[in-house]
Amino acid sequence: MIKVAVLGVGTVGSSVVKILEKNADIIQARCGKRIVPVIGVVRDMSKKRDIGIPLTDDIKSVINRDDIDIYIELMGGIEQAYSVVKEILSKGKSVVTANKALLAYHRYDLQKAAQKAKIGFEASVAGGIPVIKALREGLSANHITAIKGILNGTCNYILTKMMNEKASFKDVLKEAQELGYAEADPTFDIGGFDAAHKLLILASIAYGIEAKPEEILIEGIENIGNEDIYFAKEFEYVIKLIGIAKKKGDKVELRVHPSLIPQDEMIAKVNGVMNGVSLIGDFVGETMYYGAGAGGDATASAVVADLIDIAREGQSPMLGFKSPLEKAKLVIMPKDEVETKYYFRVKVKDEIGVLAKIAAVLELSQISIESFLQKTEAKKSDTTTLFFATHHCKEANVQKALKEIEKLPFVIDKTNMLRIEANT
Ligand code: HSE
Repeated sequence: MIKVAVLGVGTVGSSVVKILEKNADIIQARCGKRIVPVIGVVRDMSKKRDIGIPLTDDIKSVINRDDIDIYIELMGGIEQAYSVVKEILSKGKSVVTANKALLAYHRYDLQKAAQKAKIGFEASVAGGIPVIKALREGLSANHITAIKGILNGTCNYILTKMMNEKASFKDVLKEAQELGYAEADPTFDIGGFDAAHKLLILASIAYGIEAKPEEILIEGIENIGNEDIYFAKEFEYVIKLIGIAKKKGDKVELRVHPSLIPQDEMIAKVNGVMNGVSLIGDFVGETMYYGAGAGGDATASAVVADLIDIAREGQSPMLGFKSPLEKAKLVIMPKDEVETKYYFRVKVKDEIGVLAKIAAVLELSQISIESFLQKTEAKKSDTTTLFFATHHCKEANVQKALKEIEKLPFVIDKTNMLRIEANT
């Protein structure tokens, strides 16, 4: 059993405890051990928290416990967190942290202090997206030519709402705070500092660069007004807070600022609290990562992944699990049971009753039509093409309906069917 202490039981800390409890089985299967949160450290003991582990405000006593294997640092802040993490590392214990401000200032000091202990920091950049693993492991064969990313969920949430709903800056910021996306001090978000901290972490992995936030260009979104949004829309741009790291000869360009981005670029489509990061390697080319960049559960998912990695002690079987993943063995779902939306293109003779007869076949097969279109190529043609999109229905019913449609005397060609895969 691996015992962990959670230093800071706010939005992310509570989600970490929840995941460790709810997903205990799958976590044990993946690392071969139970990972158990045994104590949480909080500043304010009087605050009500819905959490099933003992709490204390005595951090010293927790750091001095011999039975804790891994500490999760979610206290925030820089210098106090730094001295706490250093002390833990000096005892040879591992730390998992989501604290990007701490890493923006002390990542190299911590690397040195760690010696044989491990420091997991996946959650410090882009919330739930495993972008650090991608850069550190997946792309390690490459020189990184550029990093370009939307790295702050709060800013992206605000800018998206301003673009799409003409919402006011203040109102949306309040919403983002209520949803648990914003930092304790939201000027870190809107001033671009949080994104800069994350960019520096990525740039260290990519380039070994040792810059501090003060040394790079940082501009926030606080001066973006509705007039700027108006211009952007008129000229088919979106406004995004972007972090950029680019290698140019023997220099690395590092900057964070709001930018106008052409609407059709992939990164322009990263909306709401989502983050999107594009990493470009000299051999792999461009790779892109997308997902929730803030919020308790998404960030905690990355924290727990680091715990699992450390618990594996460098020994992870090829497929990443040590015992069967599910109690009841999973089986493959028969093709007939697949459920999705469908599109049909049916070429028919243009006669009375044709549409009604096809609709009857669909009805008999329990298929509901979501939209319909008819298109006739030539003006005087005696044939026409019918297009149907369906609501969700079963593959078996669709196959049955297609066979029936094929038998109808007025159907000219084989019906073309495509599956529609949309998130909603
Ligand atoms: N405040 C941060 C954001 C949280 O909005 O992206 C995740 O680091």
